[in-house]
Amino acid sequence: MRALVFHQYGSVDVLQQVELDRPVVAPDAVLIRVVAAGVNPADSVFRRGDLKLIIRLKFPFIPGLDVAGVVAEVGANVTKFRPGDAVYAMLPNAIMGGYAEYVAVAETCVAPMPESLTFGEAAALPCAALTALQSLRDKLALRPGGHVLINGGSGGVGTFAVQIAKIMGATVTATCSDRNLDLVRSLGADAVIDYNSTDVTAGDARYDAVFDAVGVLPFDKIKRVLCPGGAMVTVNFNLANPLAMLRARFDRQQRKLKSILVQPVGADLDTLREWVEAGKLRPVIDKVYPLEDAPEAQRHSDTRRTRGKIVLAVDTDRVNEKRI
Ligand SMILES: NC(=O)c1ccc[n+]([C@@H]2O[C@H](COP(=O)([O-])OP(=O)(O)OC[C@H]3O[C@@H](n4cnc5c(N)ncnc54)[C@H](OP(=O)(O)O)[C@@H]3O)[C@@H](O)[C@H]2O)c1
Repeated sequence: MRALVFHQYGSVDVLQQVELDRPVVAPDAVLIRVVAAGVNPADSVFRRGDLKLIIRLKFPFIPGLDVAGVVAEVGANVTKFRPGDAVYAMLPNAIMGGYAEYVAVAETCVAPMPESLTFGEAAALPCAALTALQSLRDKLALRPGGHVLINGGSGGVGTFAVQIAKIMGATVTATCSDRNLDLVRSLGADAVIDYNSTDVTAGDARYDAVFDAVGVLPFDKIKRVLCPGGAMVTVNFNLANPLAMLRARFDRQQRKLKSILVQPVGADLDTLREWVEAGKLRPVIDKVYPLEDAPEAQRHSDTRRTRGKIVLAVDTDRVNEKRI
């Protein structure tokens, strides 16, 4: 099978297209023929070796956390899927494997693909939308009527977070740069703030919850606008380091600091699919690149200016096809 891999850490130039054997399917896994794969900042984190002291990768390493495609084969214990099913999946965090024509993944990480989306659109969802869902629902326990600040409403995670917070009945204030104000408003945000001209931590507004979907805001700054008893979730573990967590535990107004590590949960992909099919949730696609242009796609992602998501077309003939 065709795959985009790296054999050593480095710049996008270490990415190479190679031929590899198809993965072997374990009893609880499905083999997916990949039509489209999502690109996430984590792909570059692994490629650069930012986590090499913590996570040892096996080379050649195939990046990619998100896939949409068709089931090619199922393991002996698999009950939910059959060959020919159109599915989407998030692959396990440190294993990845999406930039390839085939990937084998545990049945629990997979769900039927939304019928109203193309393979390319479906591949935009898993990691980013699950991060938003698990942060808002599980970490922040967002309630209808609550006021949430979403820092970074225009990126992969943020575009889903704005929509999911609205689905959950919250009042949403989101930040982005001025070129994306209309986009974030169109996703349902009640108020949008240009973070380049306005410091969100300095105004009079107060929030029940804060989701920093970019990972740049220190808890000490956010505390100024967080209601007593409120909570903040950051995608950046460095800002939820042991010292920051310890200081937060002694906060007199009981405001909490949390971090998120997204989990590849198929049942959560079912929730996302229901929202997509009900017309409540949609992916924003910035650009689709053919698989062989993965270096260019990662260079784009590394600018940190992506509007919504970047997708790789692994099967260019089918990327715009729907499940039905
Ligand atoms: N911990 C986890 O489980 C987990 C899971 C997924 C992602 N992440 C992390 O979450 C972060 C976001 O991921 P992503 O996929 O959304 O990335 P992304 O799509 O590359 O994010 C790009 C967006 O970030 C916005 N942005 C950049 N600097 C900003 C700032 N100072 N304030 C507000 N917005 C800013 C940009 O907005 P403008 O162009 O409008 O300025 C752009 O829309 C990454 O660091 C990623 O590694 C963590």
